[in-house]
Amino acid sequence: MSESKGQFNSNFGFIMASVGSAVGLGNLWGFPYKMGTSGGGAFLLLYVIVVIFVGFAVTLGEFTIGRKAGKGVIEAYKMIGKNYAIVGVFAIIAAISLLSFYCTLGAYCMKYFASNFVAIFTHGGIFEADATQYFNDFISNGGVVVAFTAIFCILNLVIIMGGVSGGIEKFTTIAMPALFIMLIIVIIKSISLPGSSAGLEFMFKPDMSVFAGTGWISILATAGGQVFFSLSLGMAAMITYGSYLSKKESLVKNSIIVPVADSLVAIMAGLAVMPAVFAMGLEPAGGPGLLFITLQTVFNDMGAVGPIFGFVLYFLVFIAAITSSISVLEGVSSAWIDAKVAKGQDYSRKKITSIVTGAVFILNLPTSLDALGGGSLPQPLGFCWLDFYDLLAEGILMPLGSLIMVIIIGYKLHMDWMAEEIELEGNKMGAKGFWNFCYKVTAPIGMLFILVGQIDSFFKLGIFS
Ligand code: PFF
Repeated sequence: MSESKGQFNSNFGFIMASVGSAVGLGNLWGFPYKMGTSGGGAFLLLYVIVVIFVGFAVTLGEFTIGRKAGKGVIEAYKMIGKNYAIVGVFAIIAAISLLSFYCTLGAYCMKYFASNFVAIFTHGGIFEADATQYFNDFISNGGVVVAFTAIFCILNLVIIMGGVSGGIEKFTTIAMPALFIMLIIVIIKSISLPGSSAGLEFMFKPDMSVFAGTGWISILATAGGQVFFSLSLGMAAMITYGSYLSKKESLVKNSIIVPVADSLVAIMAGLAVMPAVFAMGLEPAGGPGLLFITLQTVFNDMGAVGPIFGFVLYFLVFIAAITSSISVLEGVSSAWIDAKVAKGQDYSRKKITSIVTGAVFILNLPTSLDALGGGSLPQPLGFCWLDFYDLLAEGILMPLGSLIMVIIIGYKLHMDWMAEEIELEGNKMGAKGFWNFCYKVTAPIGMLFILVGQIDSFFKLGIFS
């Protein structure tokens, strides 16, 4: 038995789902730290330039290809030409690799919001150990991490099983505004702590010295990689969401709204996190250390209200993570569904989404049991499992796929092909010269630069330093 694939009911729902995909751990633990250590306001300027000349175009490319095909990522690239299916395959492998560590991180968030919630009623008793000890004990307890990862995967499955409008749209149109409100609550608390202004200075004070000599190249690579990951590009998510968008909606408008909203949330995440870190006299960090050790120390130091703010923050991080992971799970499932449709076979959405989620859970086992490399599992290529999966996805396949996509649009399909879809139902594709310039020049150069920068940073080759 086959069901119809469904569509977003409204443009608002589409935007909430797409911004939900874009706003994730990358915004919360990547952006504030990278901005603070890579030149503050000066980094922000480069970030904005990359969003304008690369981010908008890659987003528009994905939404347009997706909507034009009305299919998942592999069939969508097949529509362009049989040989291009490989780009869709890259996106699917990248998506699965990403999910293979992201669900474990989602599980960490769940553990932390649950523990802080319990601590509200037990007066902080749960965090007797210091935050570093607590984190290390938790991640080394493989059974508990696997159990939380299973719960996280099941919650993902429940949402996507509900379908596009009944599951994803319904969930994200409630979850994203809730995330926004929680973020504001944490920002207000954070910037009202005495001594918080040092955090604002860390984030925003422009430091031009980092640009000296060839320094700007490595900062540009950092900003580019961050933009790219943060916008959920090259991982099947945006093409798939585009395929569910009604033909009457404006692709160009949406391709600007989503990156702008994502960037604003990234800046807001910095306002929520860094002032509190500095107010408590802690050292800023990035990655899991920032989220689970530094911030938990902040909450421990706040006294009785700490667990309340801890619960709010970790709950919002969990929302950010799950609205991202569902987009990628949907991307993989929909590619499989459309492969079946193309072969004229029947399918059951419930069965396919269950198998995909089950496989993702199994692929998370090494990450969940690895204690971020501190356990006894063998380390592939010398990387911890999280970094290994991330290397495949963020390091290679995602930027490579997007590089090929912008070259296909700029040099094979051209702007008329794009306009044919974009200008449906009275919409206009303004500034064609700008888009043409992006697809022919800035996006390919930018994506090549990002690809090399990613490989450089994973293998510490020192190309850009
Ligand atoms: N845009 C997401 C983020 O910033 O965290 C990237 C992402 C990663 C989306 C993993 C989905 C996912 F499963």
